[in-house]
This record gives sequence, structure tokens and C-alpha cells, in this order.
Amino acid sequence: MQTDVLAVHAKSLAILKHNRRFIPGGVVSVNRAVQPEIVFVKGQGAYLWDADGNKYIDYHAAFAPHFLGHNDPYVTDAVVSVLRRSASLYGAGTTELEGQLAELICQQIPAVEAVQFLNTGSEATSQAIRLARAVTGRDHIMVMQGGYNGWHDDVSCNLMTPLNVVGQRLSPGEYPYIPISAGIPRDHQKLVHPINFNDLASVDYVCEKYSVAALITEPILQNIGIVKPEAGYLKGLRRLADRHGFILIFDEVKTGFRHGIGGYAKIAGVVPDLVVLGKAVANGYPIAALGGKSELMNWFVHPEPSKRVLLAGTYNAHPVPTAAAIATIERLLMNDGEVYRHVESLGQQMQEGLEETLRALRIKAVVARQGSAFCVYFMDHCPKDWHDLAAHHDFAFDEDVRRKLIDLGIYFFPLATKQCSISFAHTPQDIATTLEQIKCALKLILR
Ligand SMILES: Cc1ncc(COP(=O)(O)O)c(C=O)c1O
Repeated sequence: MQTDVLAVHAKSLAILKHNRRFIPGGVVSVNRAVQPEIVFVKGQGAYLWDADGNKYIDYHAAFAPHFLGHNDPYVTDAVVSVLRRSASLYGAGTTELEGQLAELICQQIPAVEAVQFLNTGSEATSQAIRLARAVTGRDHIMVMQGGYNGWHDDVSCNLMTPLNVVGQRLSPGEYPYIPISAGIPRDHQKLVHPINFNDLASVDYVCEKYSVAALITEPILQNIGIVKPEAGYLKGLRRLADRHGFILIFDEVKTGFRHGIGGYAKIAGVVPDLVVLGKAVANGYPIAALGGKSELMNWFVHPEPSKRVLLAGTYNAHPVPTAAAIATIERLLMNDGEVYRHVESLGQQMQEGLEETLRALRIKAVVARQGSAFCVYFMDHCPKDWHDLAAHHDFAFDEDVRRKLIDLGIYFFPLATKQCSISFAHTPQDIATTLEQIKCALKLILR
């Protein structure tokens, strides 16, 4: 096996060896350090090519931003055109482009009356939490066990925490802050209260003990696959936010635009106070947005300096990602939702094909899916929270399948439970080929 990997990925390994001399670990985001170590050199539509010339049908989509597919021509044209017009980063005053993008987002997302732009999802969730603290004058926040909201101190915790570390499921209750990074001050950790997803009793519990500024959650937990909210859960969060006076922040960095132009909040019929957007908004270009009620967003320009929330950034609304975001949204709006109809039909094809194969091979598994995003859990039901998932999913089998698929030219990110993303560029034939290879991979493993 070792010999095969060396032969198939020889050039990838040589590039990585070179980069390791200068970049710690050889990668610039720790989440990219996975086995097999592959260096990609080209992405077009639904496909990736690696340094050794191997081609893959891609379902990783770079952790999900490529909703239209890699290098979508409409978005690429917009980017080339903005550069040809000599648009630059001026760093003074406003620009027409950022105004256009802001208007589009405010028109399309009911929860967004006003919006600001940043470069990454982490910057935007950090600003959302700071804004919530400023507005409420409170310091504590709630986060979800099994949720991911970025890399800063407030939220670098309790993602895929082993159950022997976080402890058994508690409800109502809270979990200890389990950092996923060194260097987070202990005093800061005391301000953050991880609770179960789909558990309103724990929200009440934390609010009765602490003075809570905000609850931040992905409306679907998409960093541990697809863990959906139970009926009434998101509406319940809205009710409890109103009752306890905390700011409800929906982190739609993964769900926004991918599941519908108005975000998952619109699908659920819930209006959060603040919404964070990123990833699919610009089909792979680095931009994020923080939007919400004007009365909150206006604290960024509060007339009283002691109340003003600092929002600054050299690269905020850089013309390249801003043009990419405008073009992406235009593309999503074209032909009365053509993009969403296409990915939904491919998603259905994938789900039905997977379910048939899993049934035929008598494998205990379920397919969780929202539109273009799906995940296979090797357990007998769709999980309702991290503890449910961690207790029942077969992580080792999941990773075996993913690695075998990569050998067969299908790129599922090789880490158990990671979301798979279909793009507008995928075709029914791509899905059919993928399903064939999945059958093949499962048979090889079961043999
Ligand atoms: C739901 C969610 N929020 C926030 C982030 C952080 O975004 P970024 O990596 O752009 O900082 C991510 C990244 O994966 C995410 O999935």
C-alpha cells in the first residue's frame, strides 16, 4: 500500500517535502493536513487534478465555498473584468461595488437590514460576538458542542470532542470549555458555555446562571456532517433570545446561499438578530459578511465613542472578492432558481443511489442531506447532536470509505463525518460515476 501511495502521489509528496522546509507542517491551515497528502494543481467545474495528473470528482469543494463549481466562468469573467478596469483596493471612502453587494444581500436575506464586509468567516463571527457584547453590556456567550464558528478565542472549542473528555450528555446543563487551540486565556474560557444542539432546556439553564450576551450557532451543524435542527428548535431559540434578552446569531457561513438565497433562516422561517455569511457567497473568493437588524449594526458607527464597536480591516470588501460575490449572487438568481433546482435533483440522485447501495450491501447507515450537502452516517439514525453522533457513528469505517474513494478518483474529504458538497457544475453522469465507485469502495472494504 505504501509503495502504491508513493507511486500515485510522488510529485505531491515531493512538493510537500519542499514546503515543509519553510512552512510548519507544510500546510497553511491545519485542517488541510490529511492523509493521503495530495497537492492539487487545478480545479475546474466539478473536477480537481493533482500534481501527478490524477483527476478526481470533487465533493470537498474546499470546505464548501465552491457552490457553482471551481472557476465558474460567470464569476471568473466578473473578476477578470474588475481587474481589467483597474479597480484597486483604495482604502479610503466607500466604493460602488460594495454598495451593490450590500444592496443585493439586504434584498435577498430577510434577517439582513444592514451589512458589513470582512474577509473570513472567523473575522465575521468574532465581530458578531463583540457587537452582541457591546449592545447587551453582557460578557457570556453560548456555543454548540459540535459546532464550528472559526478560530478565535470565543469559539475555538468543543468541536469533535471525545466523549471521555467532554463527559456524558447533559441536559439541562453545560459542558466544560474544551479548547481546540493552545493559548486561549483561562479567564476568557469561563465566558463561553458549550451546550447541546437541539436542546432548549440547556439554553434556559445557562441563561439562569449567567448574564448571556449571545448564542451563536450554525442552523444546521455542518462541521460534523449534516445535523439538522429538530422541528421547532430554531423557533425556540428565537423565543428564548427574546425572553432572556440575548442576541441570536446564526452562523450561516456554510448554510448561507448553499441551501437557498435567503439562507437557512428563511427556510426555517426564523429571523435571527445577526447573521454571518461566507464561503458560498463568493464561490471560493475570500469575503464574509455580517448582517442583521439596523439598530444593532448601527453600533459600528455609534455616535457615542465609548459605545462604538471597532470594525476595521485593510482588505475589507476588496474589489476582487466583492465582484466575485456580486456575480455569484447574480448567477444564483438567474433563470428562476435554476442552480437550486439542479443541485437538489443531483442531491436526490445521490441520496437514492447511496441508500440503495447501503441496503443491498446490508450496511447499517443513513444518509443525511440538505439540498447539495450530504453525509453518510454509519449508524441506524440521523444524529441529533454531537453526543448522539460520537456514541453511535463508525468513524473508522467512514474514513476507510473516504480513503478508498480517493484511490478511485472521488474526492470525499478524508476525515470522518465531513460534509460532502455537490456543486452546480456536477452532472447526473458525475453522480452516477460516483455511485458506482462508492459501491466498488464498499465492496473492497467488506471483502
Ligand atoms: C460554520 C462556520 N463558521 C465559521 C467558519 C470560519 O470561516 P473561515 O474559515 O472563513 O474563517 C467556518 C469555516 O469552516 C464555518 O464552517
